[in-house]
Amino acid sequence: MIEPLRVGVAGLGTVGASVVRILARQDNALADRGGRPVRVTAVSSRDRTRDRGLDLSRYAWIDDPVALARSPEVDCVVELIGGSEGAARATVEAAIAAGKHVVTANKALLAKHGLALARAAEAQGTALCFEAAAAGGIPVIKTLREALHGNAVRRVYGILNGTCNYILTRMEQEGLSFAECLKDAQRLGYAEADPTFDVEGFDTAHKLAILTSLAFGVEIDADAIYVEGISKISTLDLRMADELGYRIKLLGVAERTKTGIEQRVHPTMVPKSSSIAQVTGVTNAVTIDADAVRELTLIGPGAGGEATASAVIGDIGDIASGAVRPPFGRPVARLERAQRAPMQRHEGGYYIRLTVPDRPGVAAGVATHMAAQDISIESILQKRSELAATKDPHGKSGAPVPLVLVTYAAEEAAIRAALDKIAADGLISEPPQVIRIERE
Ligand SMILES: NC(=O)c1ccc[n+]([C@@H]2O[C@H](COP(=O)([O-])OP(=O)(O)OC[C@H]3O[C@@H](n4cnc5c(N)ncnc54)[C@H](OP(=O)(O)O)[C@@H]3O)[C@@H](O)[C@H]2O)c1
Repeated sequence: MIEPLRVGVAGLGTVGASVVRILARQDNALADRGGRPVRVTAVSSRDRTRDRGLDLSRYAWIDDPVALARSPEVDCVVELIGGSEGAARATVEAAIAAGKHVVTANKALLAKHGLALARAAEAQGTALCFEAAAAGGIPVIKTLREALHGNAVRRVYGILNGTCNYILTRMEQEGLSFAECLKDAQRLGYAEADPTFDVEGFDTAHKLAILTSLAFGVEIDADAIYVEGISKISTLDLRMADELGYRIKLLGVAERTKTGIEQRVHPTMVPKSSSIAQVTGVTNAVTIDADAVRELTLIGPGAGGEATASAVIGDIGDIASGAVRPPFGRPVARLERAQRAPMQRHEGGYYIRLTVPDRPGVAAGVATHMAAQDISIESILQKRSELAATKDPHGKSGAPVPLVLVTYAAEEAAIRAALDKIAADGLISEPPQVIRIERE
């Protein structure tokens, strides 16, 4: 008779409670698939009295998750507490030190301490699995780590935060403001009371750091990521994007460039015809560009109790079947230290929206500064309000109007230099809006 894999679940919130529920439901199927039964033996959370819709009397309750991690009744510790420090970090470190396998969905912990934890797990010969830490229910970690050995990855990018995609989708489809959509997202439970972490791009950055390491075989380096969120995107930008043939998405992009590995998170214009542009609402998507497979896009639920638990249980199944792989796809000693490509050297197309006075010569002045930096303009759109057009058909009122430029590929440093000159010449009355364009 094969001994079951004994699982201890630390954290019984949205994901943890779903993991316990699904493991009870999938009992026999897991044993059939993995060749070894899986049993939850112990659980830990802060509040023992809280109703979680679960019969917890079947499991040992251990108040301290670190004690759960060290319990002789547990072979595999599932950390679903969250946060890069405190109880989550202490639980994972204690589990590895005690020679236990670890499954976690904790991107913040991995982005900050992933390398040290992987090194410790490798030294102990234990598994450290984190499929749920990037793009929730989408099996992108397995895809990068196990399915693409025959490929050199050139770029990996994706919609990795459902809250941002929900907000941008509603702004685009209903013409609502960022603030209105954020309020709705909070009411529906898609956004936290303090939404900074999601809307300013930090959550996407944590996930991107993990994907970068797996895609390029480099040490995780979250500090190298350029991060910009969606809070300054206006409905006007979404309308202009539509007119120009684009949609705006918050993307995490990691790319091997001639100057090194570029990692960036920012609102991005993507062609309406691209797969990623079709992804709406809270759904996540990841596209991998690689030499043999060319382009692979995975689309699915990036969050939610059951979807995230699905990824966690996939990892538990791997451990039950005896698989212990290097957490980042290769032994830590063989991960390279990535050469950081500075954002100033980023090359790509740019959407630039300037607020300029409605008078002759302004567009020409802007174009001159762009040309001086060797930036070629693909299109230029000047939008006048209907009122201004009626009152002053010759455009001499001086009232502020948007002037939108789309550039061919240019370097970030050149764009910034041109914009500084345009501002210094008094040609704009508001800070410029700059949105990078990601072409296929
Ligand atoms: N929610 C998602 O859709 C999702 C998706 C992908 C990844 N993740 C990741 O999954 C992890 C869990 O997320 P979640 O949404 O399930 O969080 P959550 O609902 O806030 O649950 C966290 C759980 O941890 C418990 N906890 C907090 N401090 C503790 C401590 N000191 N000792 C023991 N237990 C403690 C809480 O206990 P009480 O219940 O007793 O207060 C709660 O049950 C996070 O790393 C998150 O980033 C979540």
